[in-house]
Amino acid sequence: MEKFIDRISEEMRRAFEEAGYDPALGRVTLSNRPDLCEYQCNGAMAAAKKYKKAPFAIAEEVAGKLGSSEIFQSVEAVMPGFLNLTLRESFVLNYFNEMMKQEKYGVENPETPQTMVLDYGGPNVAKPLHVGHLRPAIIGESIKRIVRYAGHKVIGDVHLGDWGLPMGQIITELKARKPQLCYFDETYEGEYPEEAPFTIAELEEIYPYASGKCKVDEEYKAQALEATAQLQNGLRGYRALWKQILKVSVNDLKKNYEKLDVHFDLWNGESDVDDLIPDMVKKMKEEGHAYLSDGALVVDIRKETDKKELPPCIILKSDGAANYETTDLATIIQRERDYQPDAIVYVVDKRQELHFEQVFRCARKTGIVRDETALQFIGFGTMNGPDGKPFKTRDGGVLRLEYLLKQIKDQMFEKIRENKELPEEEAESTAEKVALAAVKYGDLSNQAAKDYIFDVERFTSFEGDTGPYILYTMVRMKSILNKYREAGGNPDEVSCIEPSSKVEKELMMALAGFNAMLEEASEERAPHKVCAFIYQVANDINSFYHAIKILTEEDQRKQDGYIALLKNALRIMETCIELLGFEAPERM
Ligand code: ARG
Repeated sequence: MEKFIDRISEEMRRAFEEAGYDPALGRVTLSNRPDLCEYQCNGAMAAAKKYKKAPFAIAEEVAGKLGSSEIFQSVEAVMPGFLNLTLRESFVLNYFNEMMKQEKYGVENPETPQTMVLDYGGPNVAKPLHVGHLRPAIIGESIKRIVRYAGHKVIGDVHLGDWGLPMGQIITELKARKPQLCYFDETYEGEYPEEAPFTIAELEEIYPYASGKCKVDEEYKAQALEATAQLQNGLRGYRALWKQILKVSVNDLKKNYEKLDVHFDLWNGESDVDDLIPDMVKKMKEEGHAYLSDGALVVDIRKETDKKELPPCIILKSDGAANYETTDLATIIQRERDYQPDAIVYVVDKRQELHFEQVFRCARKTGIVRDETALQFIGFGTMNGPDGKPFKTRDGGVLRLEYLLKQIKDQMFEKIRENKELPEEEAESTAEKVALAAVKYGDLSNQAAKDYIFDVERFTSFEGDTGPYILYTMVRMKSILNKYREAGGNPDEVSCIEPSSKVEKELMMALAGFNAMLEEASEERAPHKVCAFIYQVANDINSFYHAIKILTEEDQRKQDGYIALLKNALRIMETCIELLGFEAPERM
């Protein structure tokens, strides 16, 4: 469906043309002065230069062509040459009714849907999810939902870190602690046990211990490197043990992502592309891209236009082992082979920008990616604590995601229990929903690239630009609709009427921007645009609610109209929060 603003601009373009001017000048935008008008057009100012005429005179001529417009209620030429525009209620209503009839509220499927591989999450096996994993999960999940809603195909891949030195470190430490395990017996030829020889809790203790020890103990580190190489070279016992690490850890990760309502289509990891590496390396060597430098195999990725020196991309380390670049490159090969995507998009900490620059350039230079496949890095900023430094626990450690979520949920629970009517059980599940909204909205309402302060007080507030405020508004709407039902009405059977007040009209106009907003959010991969939209709508709803007595309105036709507007606004809001990745409770 044509966008609201485009339909308005089109009418203005027609008037410019009729008055003898270039129709392109008739672009309409939201008003900078909402106290004076709803929309505005500055085309006469630009026309003045082009046609060497006073802008005000042009504006007047154009306004003259719009006297009987079905779109504009009033078109006012004001000095020095602006056009101040107010819409007809009937136009707003017709557009709104038309969009609400459509399955996706005016969002049309693209002519050629794109396929996107979305790489987000990026947890590392054997490490618990901590606050650092919150942003990629939240942002990636929302981008996935938005781009899908826009009509494209998105394949979400968690891209586990499951293949590097950490694996060797864990194996080394397990060998030290439990040398009797069959995995370490090189003469063992039988089947390896089903059951893992450790729990997730043990694993999470072993890994930081081993990685800490590597920093201070050279010999231990050498063992870990050796174990990593043996694992990658396919030593049977190590492979079997590694599979156990993977199994235990992935189980736990899945549970945690589930709690965040974050879902991946693929649970692939760095290890999955191991078998693609030898051919990739061979090709890069044969075609003359890769050469030895200080023992490592590298590809020079500098360009003449570079302002700063970019280090070469390391394809194999001097000991022949794969590194982070290697697996990311091989993963591009795998994604090209399996999905021929139009884009591969990475939602990763912006501090990894150089890594992706190297990988993308190397992939282009060596031709492992088709020219038509876009490679896009969406780097997100750091989540800081109230002190402006990266978020830490009180004793300076990294905070586990589980604890953080629980903390916020408990806080929400206290707040919600202030409403004594809510039974404990419902308060529990409501607190969980509101807490998730607080965290997700707090994150998504910022532009991803910016650092932001994780401010629990602010995020959990029922007022201001927060998730709980959005949900509170929705709950209030639900409650009005329920009361209307209790009084014998049926919100599904009433229709909107021409707005008779400014507050209704503004709400309708805001909602009419849904399809334009959604397309932008999808193209720019920008969930914060959904947040800004829904915040505006929530504010408009609250103005409406405060200005108009909905349930005590005696004119039935009017009341039904209000209810229809509320119901439709709620549908749009439900859609928006679904795109952001959370849901609304019935009461709170
Ligand atoms: N596991 C990585 C890390 O912890 C993030 C992975 C991001 N995705 C990628 N394809 N490199 O830093």
